Amino acid sequence: MSEGIPLFPLSFEVNGRAVELEIEPQESLAEVLRNRLNLTGTKVSCEVQVCGACTVLVDGLPVSACTFLAYEARNKKVLTIEGLAAPDGTLHPLQQAFVDESAFQCGFCTPGMILAARALLEERPLPTEEEIRASMDGNICRCTGYLPIVHAIQKAAQALRSRS
Ligand code: FES
Ligand code: FES
Repeated sequence: MSEGIPLFPLSFEVNGRAVELEIEPQESLAEVLRNRLNLTGTKVSCEVQVCGACTVLVDGLPVSACTFLAYEARNKKVLTIEGLAAPDGTLHPLQQAFVDESAFQCGFCTPGMILAARALLEERPLPTEEEIRASMDGNICRCTGYLPIVHAIQKAAQALRSRS
C-alpha cells in the first residue's frame, strides 16, 4: 500500500460472499482478488487487456480484471474460477469438459477461458463452432491450438442442456 493515498471503501460480492475492504483508487480488480483475497486462480499476464488470462465475471459479464478498477466492482457480484464448482466440490460442466477434452496444458489461460465460456453459454446455450471461436477470440492460449477448447465448450453446452 502506498503512503498518503486516500483509501476508498469497497463493498462487493465475490463468489457469493460479501466482502468489505478499503482499497487504493488505482487498484485493479485483479490486484484486489489476488493480493487481498488470495484468489490466485485469476491469472495476470499481459496487464493490458489483450490476453484474457485475467477474465472474471462481473454481474455475469466477462471483464479483464487487469484493467478493471476494483472500485468499479462496488455493489456488484464477481465470479472467479474459485467460485465455479458446486459447494460439494463437484466441478462445473465447463471445468469437467476441459479436463475430459484435455483442453489445457500449462493451464495459465484456463481460468479466463472457462469464465469467458461460461458467459457465452449463459447468452447462447448452444453456440455454433463459429460463435464459440468469435466469442473466445479475446482469450489467448499458447499451448493447445484451441481445438480442444472448442470441443470442451461444445461438450459443456450439451451437458448443461441435458441437465436443464
Ligand atoms: S492479463 Fe488481463 S488481459 Fe492479459
Ligand atoms: S494451456 Fe497454456 S496458455 Fe493455454
